[in-house]
Amino acid sequence: MKSLLYLYILSLFCMQIISAQPVRIQNIGARDTTSLNGYWKIIIDPYENGYYDYRYQPNPNGYFKNSKAESKSDLVEYNFDESDSLLVPGDWNTQIEKLFLYEGTVWYKKSFQYTPEDDNRLFINFGAVNYNAIVYVNGNKVGEHTGGFTQFCNEITSFAQEGENFIVVKVDNKRLREGVPTLNTDWWNYGGITRDVTLITTPSTFIEDYSIQLDPGNNQKINFKVDINGMEDDMPVLINIPELFISLTLPKSMREFSIVSIPDHWSPQNPKLYDVVIQYNKEIIKDKIGFRTVETRGTDMLLNGMPVFLKGISIHEESPIKGGRANSMDDAVQTLKRVKELGCNFVRLAHYPHNENIIRAAEEAGIMVWSEIPVYWTILWDNEETYANAENQLVEMIERDKNRANVIIWSMANETPRSDQRLKFLGNLINKTRQLDSTRLISAATELTYEGNTITLDDPLSNLLDVIGANEYIGWYSRTPDDAPLLKWESNFNKPLIISEFGGGALAGYHGDKDTRWTEEYQENIYVNQLKMLDKIPFLKGMSPWILADFRSPRRPLSNIQDFWNRKGLISNNGEKKKAFYILQEYYSRK
Ligand code: GCU
Repeated sequence: MKSLLYLYILSLFCMQIISAQPVRIQNIGARDTTSLNGYWKIIIDPYENGYYDYRYQPNPNGYFKNSKAESKSDLVEYNFDESDSLLVPGDWNTQIEKLFLYEGTVWYKKSFQYTPEDDNRLFINFGAVNYNAIVYVNGNKVGEHTGGFTQFCNEITSFAQEGENFIVVKVDNKRLREGVPTLNTDWWNYGGITRDVTLITTPSTFIEDYSIQLDPGNNQKINFKVDINGMEDDMPVLINIPELFISLTLPKSMREFSIVSIPDHWSPQNPKLYDVVIQYNKEIIKDKIGFRTVETRGTDMLLNGMPVFLKGISIHEESPIKGGRANSMDDAVQTLKRVKELGCNFVRLAHYPHNENIIRAAEEAGIMVWSEIPVYWTILWDNEETYANAENQLVEMIERDKNRANVIIWSMANETPRSDQRLKFLGNLINKTRQLDSTRLISAATELTYEGNTITLDDPLSNLLDVIGANEYIGWYSRTPDDAPLLKWESNFNKPLIISEFGGGALAGYHGDKDTRWTEEYQENIYVNQLKMLDKIPFLKGMSPWILADFRSPRRPLSNIQDFWNRKGLISNNGEKKKAFYILQEYYSRK
């Protein structure tokens, strides 16, 4: 009898270990899901009172217990049921006035009903939580995540019960010197559960992950890889792509397979996506997948073997509809409408992985994507935890979007000061990227050398990149706008260059002569002269000017002009197009 008891305790312990491990379920939207979006109860906790006792030691009876006073004499000093609410997904800064500048912990709580069926398993997925999240189900810790822009998923099968359950999430958006990003950024530190929260029900054994991509070295070969989670029986994985007459039956011993096929290639002109159906036992998953190759040849970038010029624009993840963090398909559609009107075939999603809606909407619309992890400015290069955090965010970015044809560039970093430690840190990230995904290009916004009228690409980081990114602000942070056409560009590398940022600020509706800072005319003159300069660079193969729309930043206080907005947008935060918008639009129409 004793051995049975020990066995039972051991199995519970193992279940706890297993369920605490994060899983990466591919294509959440195609699963058997229940949305937990909506109003969540919150408790604002600037002194971490819900987590630590008065000695600042972890408090076993913290807010995650959602305790209730059992009798009229009981002392419980918090009550979610009587507290404020926040809409999820959404940042707290733009929902509650007193949280506009708040940096600290907010506790979220949501109840849900659950009916266990057969031997199904239950998971919870967060599209993103900025910045650190600890997740509890019925008072038990089920997972923790650091990083404000990538999804994370934990199994909660052994913690959920029949009937009513409650989830509590501790969200802490404090900036940290050792963080990724670190303390200083030129964007608003929007805190909260900023993307969708989803319960996922799966069979006991299910399709956890899959990759279906055109072989980077042979555009008539499609590579398939499927990972099954759970105790495997001898059932095969079935994969069908009807339009390509592909119908695969992959036995347990063959979860990786390649097949000759000549699909219609995805491109901006023809954003062709194929219906793909993957089945294992009772589970059927549907996806839409495009097939293309992207590579470089000398200073050229090739899409499906043909030279391409990336007519782009940089974008921060802010909603053009309501401000604050963007997360919805409506946000994505509205933003891409502006991108298309500008005449772009490319967007640089700065400076962190954006939500999946904009990636999928851009794929349908034929817009190529540069996706980036927030290794931004002065990261703590020789801190091991910082590296592990950056690498984890990199893996989560790649894992979520590895089947998206329009994602062509993974960017490792933005404007990081040169040093040996930085080169080692980024070199390791680049190696990790090449291990995970050989089908895309690697870039970063590198450093430049300015000498007189010559600008040289000479950052040693570029030795490790496929495509060189560079941000320059001739006419805004240095020189005058009229100097730009006088400047010469040189490169120490036989690689394509993307000017990943250029531009200047303007307050929409403020007009004057072209030498008056902050007027639309000043910004317009920057664009006129920048484009004259850039047109003369033979190894320039793309650009993503900074930036589509004005965005909030704590670093931009100038009263009556900035008021905590970075004004380099071609469109104001009220949707007004500035004169420079039309300069770039006309240039792209001729490109
Ligand atoms: C930098 C940086 C951006 C910033 C921009 C600016 O290049 O990459 O994040 O917003 O300059 O100064 O406006």
